Amino acid sequence: MVQSTGPKKIKCAVFISGTGSNLKSLIRFSNKKSSPISIELIISDNSKAKGLNFGKIFKISSKVFDFNNKSFSEKKIIYEIKHKDIKLICLAGFMRILSKDFIKNFKGKILNIHPSLLPKYKGLNTYQRALSNNEKYSGCTVHFVNSRLDSGKIILQKKVKISKNETPKSLAKKILIQEHKLYPKAIRKVFNL
Ligand code: GAR
Repeated sequence: MVQSTGPKKIKCAVFISGTGSNLKSLIRFSNKKSSPISIELIISDNSKAKGLNFGKIFKISSKVFDFNNKSFSEKKIIYEIKHKDIKLICLAGFMRILSKDFIKNFKGKILNIHPSLLPKYKGLNTYQRALSNNEKYSGCTVHFVNSRLDSGKIILQKKVKISKNETPKSLAKKILIQEHKLYPKAIRKVFNL
């Protein structure tokens, strides 16, 4: 008798530029039986990204595209993604802005995690900017990617309290812990699972 392998998982690519701690948490999540996704591909714009090690450890195919020629790199990535039948792209600390054309190819299928309570503090240096404005709270947001920077529909957010002696570094650390929980939750929400 053939054993059922359960419902098919949604094939997913994760894009990174650096440490890849969100990638690691997404891999852990994807390895759970109840997870709706399987991670089939890691894309990086940086051959030195520490996160690429997770590809080796977990035996996930990884590719580096230098983005010196953005449209050429994007074309190759689109080919890879379609070839592997990938249906979801998770940006996880990917520090490039994807072109309108790229985004159009995967409308409603690209998610991003951002270290602020959007729509506040789009872009870079979110921690310093929140502290300089004497915010009482900051946090993280998972959102759909559209053609405007950090402006797509919000899926989920998590607030964190800013303490008295908070520094950009301590705030980043606090928010990152929440990011690792929020991204899997947001994926479940997107797929109603
Ligand atoms: C995370 O804090 C993520 O929210 C942020 O980069 C960090 C990557 O950490 N992303 C952005 O700022 C995107 N604009 P990680 O490599 O350890 O996952």
